[in-house]
Amino acid sequence: MTPSRRVQDLPPYLFAEIERKVAARRAAGVDVISLGIGDPDMPTPGHIVEALIAGARDPATHQYPSNRGEPAFREAVAGYYARRFGVTLDVETEIVPLLGAKEGVAHICTTLLDPDDVCLAADPGYPVYTAGPLLADAEAVPLPLVPELGFQPDLEAVPADVLERAKMLFVCYPNNPTGAVVEDDFFARLVAFAKTNDLVVVHDNAYADITFDGYVAPSFLATPGAKEVGVELFSLSKSYNMTGWRAGAIVGDAEVVEAYWRLKTNVDSGMFGAVQRAAAAALDGPQDCVREMCDVYAHRRDLLVEALRAIGLSATPPKGTIYLWAPVPEGHTSASFTELVLEQADVIVSPGAAYGPSGEGFVRFSLTVPDARLHEAVQRIAERVRL
Ligand SMILES: Cc1ncc(COP(=O)(O)O)c(C=O)c1O
Repeated sequence: MTPSRRVQDLPPYLFAEIERKVAARRAAGVDVISLGIGDPDMPTPGHIVEALIAGARDPATHQYPSNRGEPAFREAVAGYYARRFGVTLDVETEIVPLLGAKEGVAHICTTLLDPDDVCLAADPGYPVYTAGPLLADAEAVPLPLVPELGFQPDLEAVPADVLERAKMLFVCYPNNPTGAVVEDDFFARLVAFAKTNDLVVVHDNAYADITFDGYVAPSFLATPGAKEVGVELFSLSKSYNMTGWRAGAIVGDAEVVEAYWRLKTNVDSGMFGAVQRAAAAALDGPQDCVREMCDVYAHRRDLLVEALRAIGLSATPPKGTIYLWAPVPEGHTSASFTELVLEQADVIVSPGAAYGPSGEGFVRFSLTVPDARLHEAVQRIAERVRL
């Protein structure tokens, strides 16, 4: 059997590699702490679980769901967008459920790209921003996020011949992996850029509510004109500790959402009705669970920043996401520093280069391990890592 060329060309999925390394060391009896993967350690809030249980007990949810999403789910997404971001969404035409934002990242490429089209992919960025275009026989061109610009891309620097072929663009704020947030007119500049160059903006909003220090993240769609040039991929995974549930939505430009839905009717059969009801309960319900979770992450972030400073590394505390992005010490690459931390402290971190060429020179620490384990990891880093 020979897999398709597309599959052969896929790079190994970053976290599969990390999981393999952890498994090998654990099999050898080593207590490895993984700060590699961004998967919240805290449970889904109880009222959401209860809504799932009630939904699962209702035989009405046992048949194929609708790919359009239950009206109650779409109403809940629209209500959340109105309350949280001041964005009005048409429940009939501007919202389709996703089995997580990841599904959206992959399939929006197949929805929009033809062979030889270009997708500008935030670099460093979520690895599927480059795998998705590849699976659509298109080309992902890195859109470097510039540290000096607060990890925003320099839109003026995109070469004309690339722009000529570019049909879409991925960005994400609050940003994985850098933790950067938007506090200026970047989204307005992005709308103008998309209009001038006839591009669809895909804003990955997976970390919308994971923010700290009083910062509140905007939606791209709240920018005047944004809904005419783009969509947002919204996820419940991180805000409500629901990574296992696979719940999100693609929202925005009705033409793009409609095209996405056409593709999706041929790919999957929708989100389990009980999960849709639980997602609606999450969005409609009390939001203090989200704030409490952010307080936990902020505390962990501060612990880690302190530990890194103790070994001579300067890390800026991010205002959002569940990650800390730090420059590696002089003389190291992101891979060699990752190896060093693993060898000396039995702690796994993610090498920045795995998120794209512009990630070289950085590593990413995830804040999603229980406090006691993070304390242990921090202690090991501070005591054992010798640069
Ligand atoms: C930037 C980004 N986009 C999308 C996803 C996928 O989210 P979901 O669980 O909703 O598929 C992740 C998950 O880590 C992410 O970091």
